Amino acid sequence: MKLIIVSNRLPLKIVEENNIYKVIPSPGGLSTGMDSLEMNVERYWVGWPGMFLKESKEKTAIDDQLLTQKYSPVYLSPEQIENYYEGYCNSVLWPLSHYFPSYIRYETKYWEAYEEVNRLFCEATLKIIEPGDIVWVQDYQLMLLPKMIRNKAPDTSIGYFHHIPFPSYELFRTLPQRAQLLDGLLGADLVGFHTHSYMRHFISAVYRVLKMECTLDEIHLDERVVDVDAFPMGINFQMFQKAMENDAIRQQAEEFRKSLGNSKLMLSVDRLDYSKGIPLRLKSFETLLDNYPQYRGAVSLVMIVAPSRDNVDIYAKLKTEIDTLVGRINGKYSTIDWNPVYYFYRSFQFEELTALYHNSDIALVTPLRDGMNLVAKEYVATKNESPGVLILSEMAGAAIELSDAIIVNPTDQKEMVEAMIQALEMPEDEQKEKIKSMQQIISVQNVNQWAQDFLEELLEVREKNVALNNKILKQENFKLIKEKYDQSKNRLVILDYDGTLVPFRRKPSEASPTPPLLALLANLCKDPRNRVVISSGRDRQTLDKWLGKLPIGLAAEHGAFYKENGEWRKRIEDVPWDKEILNIFEHTVRRTPMSKIEIKDTALVWHYRNVDSWLAELRVTQLINALINPCSRLNLQIMKGNKIVEVKNNDVSKGSEAIRLMNQDNYDFIMAIGDDTTDEETFIALPDHAITIKVGKSSNVAKYNIPTQGQTIVFLERLIN
Ligand code: UDP
Ligand code: G6P
Repeated sequence: MKLIIVSNRLPLKIVEENNIYKVIPSPGGLSTGMDSLEMNVERYWVGWPGMFLKESKEKTAIDDQLLTQKYSPVYLSPEQIENYYEGYCNSVLWPLSHYFPSYIRYETKYWEAYEEVNRLFCEATLKIIEPGDIVWVQDYQLMLLPKMIRNKAPDTSIGYFHHIPFPSYELFRTLPQRAQLLDGLLGADLVGFHTHSYMRHFISAVYRVLKMECTLDEIHLDERVVDVDAFPMGINFQMFQKAMENDAIRQQAEEFRKSLGNSKLMLSVDRLDYSKGIPLRLKSFETLLDNYPQYRGAVSLVMIVAPSRDNVDIYAKLKTEIDTLVGRINGKYSTIDWNPVYYFYRSFQFEELTALYHNSDIALVTPLRDGMNLVAKEYVATKNESPGVLILSEMAGAAIELSDAIIVNPTDQKEMVEAMIQALEMPEDEQKEKIKSMQQIISVQNVNQWAQDFLEELLEVREKNVALNNKILKQENFKLIKEKYDQSKNRLVILDYDGTLVPFRRKPSEASPTPPLLALLANLCKDPRNRVVISSGRDRQTLDKWLGKLPIGLAAEHGAFYKENGEWRKRIEDVPWDKEILNIFEHTVRRTPMSKIEIKDTALVWHYRNVDSWLAELRVTQLINALINPCSRLNLQIMKGNKIVEVKNNDVSKGSEAIRLMNQDNYDFIMAIGDDTTDEETFIALPDHAITIKVGKSSNVAKYNIPTQGQTIVFLERLIN
């Protein structure tokens, strides 16, 4: 078994020096996490090596070198980088996910390139996948990849982790390709996010955009489930905690300290990105100096901005804005022996960075939105036993775990200034206590634990899906059923109607049987050994109108009525509907656009197939709560079916109808097929030897599962031919 990680960037870069190509490491949190994984698996990595190489001897040599280290490079042309990376990834998905919709640039060519590059990643991954492998796709650059891989290698375990925020449905729905992106992700067995909020937004988007059935942490597809969960990513805690044991880093820290003078240091470290809230942070620092002169000369802001995505216009503009602000503050307040802002527009290596973490009295981590933010965790870990204060934006994923930080809303300048003062004045004991308590959390939930948790859950979902898959009616099961069917002489076949023989329609009245279905049922009944009964929740008038001409048994309203030998009979007394119950239903319909009430002789049904799914969920709960008392008083049953809530007489059910049918004869072949929870009552009522088949989501009480309604028709056709 191999673990194949697929991420936009490889944890290394190809660089050119004097016409010679070299590979240099560019490790990030993810690669250190993977290096320290305790799982005993061979690891491969697929990704972009940061450079485009045309076919040449040099490229072949580099490729061979990478492959021996189990890296598989995906080369992207300058045009692909422009339209996929700078375009769809960083001018559409990134601003959308960080709540900057006005920065989005919609261009058709961006989306085309995104699809094309996801396909390139798919081809590269398929080249190394073998049966039993695990593929772990990383981040928003590759949202289509899980489905692409699933289509070509359906039995692979596929996980996907989203490292950035998942925006709320209201924002996500504005994307032209919202459905394709969600569909792409649902190729995975497990979709992971840093926090429960992102997870909730994702599920809500799937629910509302794709109209799929979702429970709290599971999305139900026809043939499998996709699990969704929150796994807050951690850092390599020990590496940061032990950084100051390294002589070179300690010396670096001492040098920094000397050069930066005696004032207190506030540190900020970010990639150049508008999501990081750098201008607002600078303005807050300026306000501190404006309004509290005692801090002039007493505190400096050390600001590292690592260059990033500089070909995207908005990033270039941000750089100019930051330059201007820094210039303004330093121009206003610098003295010969004190600098308010030390500004570095370059990337720092681990050694320099940890030396700065160690020296800084305060870390100012105030993004406007951030999936997680690892800098906050790295600062806390590097502090080891030393004092330090973390000021952290509540908009960073890390704020959920690091609740001992001073939590701020980065857009609230007053609060930001107050937080800086609180941090500057915090007693050392309190600082140490808070740092320690945060260290306890991040030392456990470190990057190794994060990867371990994700992969363990991925394998569990896989097992769950294999078990579900085992129930799916396959050729070998079909052969057995067919043999039994052919050998038997007296058969009972109970079929549900909606969702089993016909697909669901927007309006229930549109689900009339097609001529091919009528022909199929006629064929089934033609065999004198078959007794065929349609057992439905529908009213008897509709069933009679649609199917009454067939020599078939009909059971309407869950067995409250049945038709035998051409005559309808009733199994319960007519009772006029209780006013209170009718009022509750009518009230619900009035308040829920696109829903309707169906009044049958023995049942009242609220249909909500076309209602917005969130509203429907709310109304279902409210309706059921309102119905509980009157229904228990009147001995009525409340049932939640497929996009319906139904109140019906407690004395009859599809189960009691099945028992009535069985008691009439000795059958040597009994088969029931249905898609809804009400059909499970039929399955339960039948004897063990009966063949019970659940259509759609599989069920514990049915022996087999047919994933879709269309396949049910094919199954019946093959059975009788
Ligand atoms: N980083 C770095 N050098 C720098 C600036 C940042 O190595 O000059 C690293 C930093 O240590 C952290 C990562 O880049 O591990 C930034 O991750 P974070 O989650 O904070 O933000 P992102 O860049 O992913 O949005
Ligand atoms: C964020 C994203 C990563 C990305 C990183 C650096 O952390 O979640 O996927 O690799 O930023 O951005 P870049 O565009 O330089 O890869």
